[in-house]
Amino acid sequence: MKYLEISGGRPLFGEIQIQGSKNAALPILVSCILSEGTCRIENCPEIKDVEDTLQIMRELGCGVRRLGRTVYVDASCISRWEIRATEASRIRSSVLFLGALLGRTGKAVLPMPGGCAIGSRPVDLHQKALKQLGAVFLNQEQLQAECREIRGGRIRLPFPSVGATENCLLACVLAKGESRIENPAREPEIDELCSFLNCRGARISRRRDGSLRIQGVSRLEPGVWQIQADRIVAGTYLLAAACTGGSLCVHGCPEESLRAAAGVLRRMGAQVWNQEKRWAVAVKERLQGVPYVETRPYPDFPTDLQSPLMAAFSVASGRSRIRETIFENRFSTAWELRKMGAQIQVDGNLACIDGVRRLKGARLQAPDLRGGAALVLAGLQADGITRIERTEYIERGYEDICRDLGSVGARIRVVQDTGG
Ligand code: UD1
Repeated sequence: MKYLEISGGRPLFGEIQIQGSKNAALPILVSCILSEGTCRIENCPEIKDVEDTLQIMRELGCGVRRLGRTVYVDASCISRWEIRATEASRIRSSVLFLGALLGRTGKAVLPMPGGCAIGSRPVDLHQKALKQLGAVFLNQEQLQAECREIRGGRIRLPFPSVGATENCLLACVLAKGESRIENPAREPEIDELCSFLNCRGARISRRRDGSLRIQGVSRLEPGVWQIQADRIVAGTYLLAAACTGGSLCVHGCPEESLRAAAGVLRRMGAQVWNQEKRWAVAVKERLQGVPYVETRPYPDFPTDLQSPLMAAFSVASGRSRIRETIFENRFSTAWELRKMGAQIQVDGNLACIDGVRRLKGARLQAPDLRGGAALVLAGLQADGITRIERTEYIERGYEDICRDLGSVGARIRVVQDTGG
């Protein structure tokens, strides 16, 4: 078994170049199947979710080659439109192949993405939207859909779901006629996907009211793209430095992408600066809690930073409250933090955190990807040794959390327990 071992109590100082964004890379890679020829995707993070996505693409018949962080995808020959449960069940974002396969081949068969640790995560919005574009779903047990042609249309999402917006975009770019997605997600990763599609010949524009207008085109060219830095990884590291009382500069994220997280850090008493794509944080005194923070779709505070924020609140002075409005089960981290002495009460989607002066090292299990990262933050500021098991969750989104945090002074290492 593999686990992370952290020897806490050291402030972080230095600079980190942030890896490419997971949530941008996944839909961009999936979109490569919309055209023949080879796409080149640079700064593609070396994480488990990307590897699983590439494996699905190989199974569909794509030629896939990775040279470091550059990935080449040749989707000239798509020989299948059916995705096996083994790969798809590992990553939720496999559902994006639905829109892309319908766009490219008119057919798609995928296993129903299961629930996951952070919530039930249904796909009803994806299905409803694709039906409005002409897709017919043939099966209740799996996502089996067909369409003779995708017809442009008006889709109004009742909630700005990131995945449903991406699925609609992937289906609409090659549709006949014009489509309009109202109330789409506004996450920067959506705009990055649109920009990549546009540079390949798509005609997508975002209107003033936020809605997306897509004029269908008959074909897309292959393209070259460089993935933006991961704002969630950057936010995690800024919070980590803040709660250890250090100072850190992270490189790569544009100003607006971290504004909400920076706002909360400032309310906690941290000094935060931004210049172009550099963000810096410095903390000299104990952090203060914040009476109320709510997770909301972009541009508000992201659900993906909720668990790391909870770890930071655990040692901040006073009482903090977090309301999780996106994923219903995203408080599992609280139970692990309590093993370290954190004072957290959970009532439905509200967590109430009374900051303690110190946490103590403990043996923990990562409950999910961001929850795992939150436990790393907690371990960095705790007295003694923290051991975090189930590190495979963390590897789904962080290229090498030991390398990154180790380079700025954290004592963190991977231990291979051979059981002997
Ligand atoms: C994406 C991100 C994830 C982030 C989330 C919210 C990727 C690969 N993942 O996930 O990191 O935490 O956005 O910012 O980009 N919902 C439905 N029916 C649907 C679709 C969604 O009820 O058909 C609900 C979900 O259960 C959830 C909420 O809508 O409660 C948000 O989900 P969504 O925005 O779709 O998140 P994902 O695309 O799964």
